[in-house]
Amino acid sequence: MKFEKPATTNPIDREAVVGQPHDRIDGRFKTTGTAPYAYERHDVGNDVAYGHVVGSSIAKGRIRSIDSSATERSPGFLALVTHRNAGELGKGKRNFAPLLGGPDIQHYHQAVALVVARTFEEARAAANLLKIDYERGEGQFDLEPFAETAPPVEGNSGEGSEAPPVGEYGDFERAFGEAPVKIDQRYTTPDESHCMIEPHASIARWEGDRVTLWTSNQMVDWGVTDLAATLKIPKENVRFVSPYVGGGFGSKLFLRADALLAALGARQAKRPVKVALTRPLVANNTTHRPATIQRIRIGATREGRITAIAHDSTSGNVKGGRPETAVAQTKMLYAGANRMTAMRLAELDLPEGNAMRAPGEAPGMMALEIAVDEMAEALGMDPVAFRILNDTQEDPEKPGRKFSQRQLVRCLQDGAERFGWDQRDPKPGTKRDGRWLVGMGVAAGFRDSPVMTSGARVRLDEQGVVTVETDMTDIGTGSYTIIAQTAAEMMGVPLSKVAVGLGDSRFPVSAGSGGQWGANSSTAGVYAACAKLRETVAQKLGFNSGEAEFADGEVRAGNRAVKLGEAAKDGDITVEDKIEFGDLDKETQQSTFAGHFVEVGVDAFTGEVRIRRMLAVCDAGRILNPKTARSQVIGAMTMGVGAALTEELAVDKRHGFFVNHDLASYEVPVHADIPHQEVVFLDDPDPYSSPMKAKGCGELGLCGVGAAIANAIHNATGVRLRNYPMTLDKLLDRLPEVA
Ligand code: MOS
Repeated sequence: MKFEKPATTNPIDREAVVGQPHDRIDGRFKTTGTAPYAYERHDVGNDVAYGHVVGSSIAKGRIRSIDSSATERSPGFLALVTHRNAGELGKGKRNFAPLLGGPDIQHYHQAVALVVARTFEEARAAANLLKIDYERGEGQFDLEPFAETAPPVEGNSGEGSEAPPVGEYGDFERAFGEAPVKIDQRYTTPDESHCMIEPHASIARWEGDRVTLWTSNQMVDWGVTDLAATLKIPKENVRFVSPYVGGGFGSKLFLRADALLAALGARQAKRPVKVALTRPLVANNTTHRPATIQRIRIGATREGRITAIAHDSTSGNVKGGRPETAVAQTKMLYAGANRMTAMRLAELDLPEGNAMRAPGEAPGMMALEIAVDEMAEALGMDPVAFRILNDTQEDPEKPGRKFSQRQLVRCLQDGAERFGWDQRDPKPGTKRDGRWLVGMGVAAGFRDSPVMTSGARVRLDEQGVVTVETDMTDIGTGSYTIIAQTAAEMMGVPLSKVAVGLGDSRFPVSAGSGGQWGANSSTAGVYAACAKLRETVAQKLGFNSGEAEFADGEVRAGNRAVKLGEAAKDGDITVEDKIEFGDLDKETQQSTFAGHFVEVGVDAFTGEVRIRRMLAVCDAGRILNPKTARSQVIGAMTMGVGAALTEELAVDKRHGFFVNHDLASYEVPVHADIPHQEVVFLDDPDPYSSPMKAKGCGELGLCGVGAAIANAIHNATGVRLRNYPMTLDKLLDRLPEVA
């Protein structure tokens, strides 16, 4: 099915099943421990061996020699994979640094060996006996010296966020020079780690020249393609099975070392091999969100209209890597006739930087929305009113190109009212609650809503059961449930009559889970397949498909009603289709918006920051399931609290690695850090987005929330923090005098 014109009324608009807050259909499997995650597949066989990954202990240089004699004599040893015996490997187009290093080393903890043994303990012990002699080279590990000198590059986060090396519209320098009110500030965000609960894990089994991977991957088809390219074998010889994913946040978009080394280890050991990356390996072996140094300049009239806006960002990456597209949203979030963006990329020898939840907008909004607050302050304006005054309904760099739907103003107004914004004293440092300095902050939320081709297969049986199969993944988001809801709505059956199979490369290629495109695109693919199934069923039962109504397990028209399952009485009916998106997302700008409101308390004596309340009002098209969508947004807001207050991969600038590579020293928020969160959806179908009229919201909840916290800290204390995370050491000597 081609989606080329705005959607008209269709069966989804009934919202009998779609749009309802159904519990997750996979919830019971997860809570009873019966959902099979990659490392726990006990159905692969009882001869599964264990692989232990050895990561490079230098960040740059060469392996001089490997002495494996003690390893090979170690109890239970089965096989050793290194660059010396792995055969010639290619590289998947989505990997920057090779997943198996040697003899050249590109980053710390790049995998250099896999030791396979009968048990996990034996594999780990044997791996510890491996003697690798390195020749250490000099590396660049510090972004700061490159802030102004790194070359401009264009960037695409791989997830819909993109910007040119330098983007100019109007005459920024002149307009900024002439602006009566202006700010010019520098902001920094640190390297961050995804910290999903389930580490990267895979089991590989070969049958002849075919390999099956039970793995944890967000994008099944990307993984299959890149593993085949790396092993230099045909794509048809690779199967991925990834039905449950314990979080990814972008770290599992791509093929990683666990999958490649499991495949190589299983080939070498001639039996299935399972590999999980240990928590310390995840930080330095896989990808992370790269640090940024950002400069933002805004000029406005005395009445508060933006006349000039510029955003420069510098980030670093391994050779061949991409920049963090932190300036992307600044091209279109606010009005203003003179605009400039620039992105610089420094080549660093740290581990590979890549997509982490809302790549680009997440760190970009952390800076931009503080700058907007500073501008409102400079103007003596309320920050909600300043944002509303500078709203735009069209792409400011392409006049006439409208947003398909943009209700940022409503999000801000509605949020301000619900949050009690009128109780905020604009004068900072005035509100006390015992030892706490209390403040409120606001930020806009913005994240694009990309769409991706997505396919599905649906089957109807005689009992009227509809089975959906697609290689879409459920990374904890609720894909199983919204896909079942879509099929139930389309075929007029209850949820209990729908079965959903996901995450298997034998199923049709879907959008996968990334860039908050998954929900809208994958359900639209299921819509397309179900539309085809409706046609086939109607024909079989002798209905005119245009008139047939599918409801209550029946197909009806006029005074005739037939049970749906009747159509399959001579055998199951199976059809397949995919949704392909035309140019609607180019003709219109399709984005999602939010108003983020936060109240913080700052300890007047210690500078410790505590969140007191959070609210997000979200404009993200039709909400397919308010319960799973809310979970996505509160999870994202929580991630924003981590980014704002605690999360930072500490860089060892001498040896070039992230020091705090575990959950004891890389601090993410826990329940006790989040006392009260509220999420409100405008829930307004957008006919331009897809037949589902839905958009993504999982990343929207993250974008902007960190700045709302920074702005609340400023309102509480009068201290303007511009460097994340906002730990107490950055506040302590600047807090108001306490009597
Ligand atoms: Mo992406 S960072 O996996 O949504």
